[in-house]
Order: sequence, then C-alpha cells, then structure tokens
Amino acid sequence: MELFDHLKFKIVRRKIKIAFPEATDARILGAAARLKAEELVEPILIGNKEEIAEKANARGLNAENFIILDPESYDGWDAMVEAFIERRNGKATKEDAEKTLKDVNYFGTMLTYMGFADGMVSGAIHSTGDTVRPALQIIKTKPGVSRTSGAMIMVRGRDQEKYLFADCAINVNPTAQELAEIAVSSAATAELFDIDPKVAMMSFSTKGSAKAEEALKVVEATRIAHELAPDLCLDGELQFDAAYVSSVGQLKAPDSQVAGKATVFVFPELQSGNIGYKIAQRLGGFEAIGPILQGLNKPVSDLSRGCNEEDVYKLSIITAAQSLVD
Ligand SMILES: CC(C)(COP(=O)(O)OP(=O)(O)OC[C@H]1O[C@@H](n2cnc3c(N)ncnc32)[C@H](O)[C@@H]1OP(=O)(O)O)[C@@H](O)C(=O)NCCC(=O)NCCS
Repeated sequence: MELFDHLKFKIVRRKIKIAFPEATDARILGAAARLKAEELVEPILIGNKEEIAEKANARGLNAENFIILDPESYDGWDAMVEAFIERRNGKATKEDAEKTLKDVNYFGTMLTYMGFADGMVSGAIHSTGDTVRPALQIIKTKPGVSRTSGAMIMVRGRDQEKYLFADCAINVNPTAQELAEIAVSSAATAELFDIDPKVAMMSFSTKGSAKAEEALKVVEATRIAHELAPDLCLDGELQFDAAYVSSVGQLKAPDSQVAGKATVFVFPELQSGNIGYKIAQRLGGFEAIGPILQGLNKPVSDLSRGCNEEDVYKLSIITAAQSLVD
C-alpha cells in the first residue's frame, strides 16, 4: 500500500479535528474541502466568517459545510484566556493573554491544547517560528523529550523506498542528550509510517575513525540513546556510506546491527540535516515529506510558505495520523 493510502486508512471516518489558522488562504481551503469530503479530517477553520465565506465562494466551495471559529467572537474566549494564563504559569498577564490569543496560531494552538482540536496545520503564510513557537510554549513536549524536532520522510520510486531523516528543521546545534532524544522520537515517528526503525547516528566518523569533538558528541549521544531506549535498534557513530551501503557497513562496522541497513538517519546538527535531506531530494530523486514535528504532546505541523494545496492535504493527513499516537 502506498504511504498515504496507509495513513488514510488509519484516519478515515474517525472525525479527527484539525485546526487551520490560515483559513482565508485558497490552498488551505481547497485542502480542507477535500479532507472533509473524503471524511479524513473534520477541519476547524479559524478566522472571520464573512472573509472565509467570501474566499470559499471564490473557489466554488460552501463555507457552511465547515466549523468556523473566530477569535474575535469565540464563545469560549474567557475560558481560553484563563487556560492560557495558567499554562504560561507566570509568563503572561491577562492583558498579554487577551492580545496573544487574537493571533490565529496561538488561538489554534490553544484549541488543540484544550482538546477542541486534535492537531493544527499552519505555516502556509506564517514563518516557522510563528507557527511553532505557540506549540512549544503551550502544548509542550512529551515527558522525557526536552526538545521537539523536525523529521522528513524521504520516499522514492514505485516500490516506495522509505527513510526518515532528522532533525532537518528545528534544533540548530543539539547537545548529546538532545540528539539522543531526537533519535528516540525519530524511531517512534518512523513506526507511524511503517518504517522499521534501524537508527544510525550520523557523523563524518565511523566507530572512532576520527576523534574530533563533533564526532565525540555523536558517540555520547549514541550512549545516551541506548540508555533511554535499550531495545531500540540504534548504532553510531556512522558515516553515511557505512550506514547505508551494506558492503561499506560490513567493512567499517562489521559488528553493527544498523550499518548498511539504516532506515532512520539522525544528523548531528541542523546544517547537515537540512542540507542532507535537500541533497537526497534534489540529486537523489526522493520526495521529501515534512517537516513532521515530533515529540510534542499533540501534533502541530508547519507548512512551507511555498506549499501547494496537495502539500496541505498531505501534511494534514500526517498530522491526523500523529494525533492517534500517544
Ligand atoms: C523553533 C524556533 C523558532 C523557536 O525559537 P524561539 O521562539 O526563538 O525560541 P525561544 O528560545 O525564544 O523559546 C520559546 C519557547 O519555546 C521553547 N522551545 C524553544 N525551542 C524548543 C524546542 N526545540 N523544543 C521544545 N521547546 C522549545 C522554549 O523553552 C521557550 O519556552 P518558554 O516560553 O515556555 O520559556 C527556533 O528554534 C528556530 O528558529 N529554529 C530553526 C528553525 C529554522 O530556521 N529552520 C530552518 C529549516 S525549516
């Protein structure tokens, strides 16, 4: 089964509610209409009703089919303000809350936090920071995960060769502890996409071949990851060829369960992760799906501003599927 068919099968007719803070954008509206018609997601559109109706009409859609919530006239406003102040725990006054929650991303994040939505998809208009920051502050990371991170699912060819790359989006220079947590979160995300996680902790060194501080960070991260998840099939530090090419893996790391067979690639910092996935995409012909934010208590997904309707549709399906995982 193709990747998305599989995810659709998991979410169809489960009435999973996804908040869309950018509901006046034609790409969002088009995707929301498809998701609703196919009973994959129950979209919650955020914004001014008249404005959304106007944009929907212009696209030949009927806004009356949607749940629309406007921060300016929301029935549950007072309760939301109170919940926000409580969650920010001394970091926001009532005045701050009243102002902040008018921001559609904060409003959508609070709907998700309070359980009125199961997840949120934004970022078609807003920057990564503006999309993700509310989730970091309000939804926060799961116990045992100190940093959220961004995974890319890399898919190629008719037989749907699949890998997970992380962190490609969030943490500029994670510590060894953070890197270990990214590895454990990545393995869980991989399973959601039916990728059997064999996690390679990536470096320019394989099993001590280089002694630089950067490589030692990966050695330490590997040690910590083993402690955090003793049953996880994980190894490091490995160069890409040792992790991916069976003959090189056997030569450079003969005792490794992962070398030559890796399916999950954890990069030592954001530059290599972000550059790495784009090389695979542009030179290797892989489709890059994501970034999928992992490790949050509830899923929030960040679109690229260059996205199209299909990207919104796909990321919403992923977000809905993530919401089914504890
Ligand atoms: C994600 C990002 C926008 C957060 O930036 P920020 O808002 O400046 O972060 P701050 O340090 O001010 O922290 C804001 C809050 O989020 C929390 N936070 C920040 N990064 C976090 C992370 N990775 N995981 C969990 N929480 C995080 C902080 O603890 C803080 O919480 P608090 O307000 O309750 O104290 C930032 O990490 C970033 O810009 N990353 C790179 C993104 C990028 O350019 N990617 C390029 C490829 S897409």
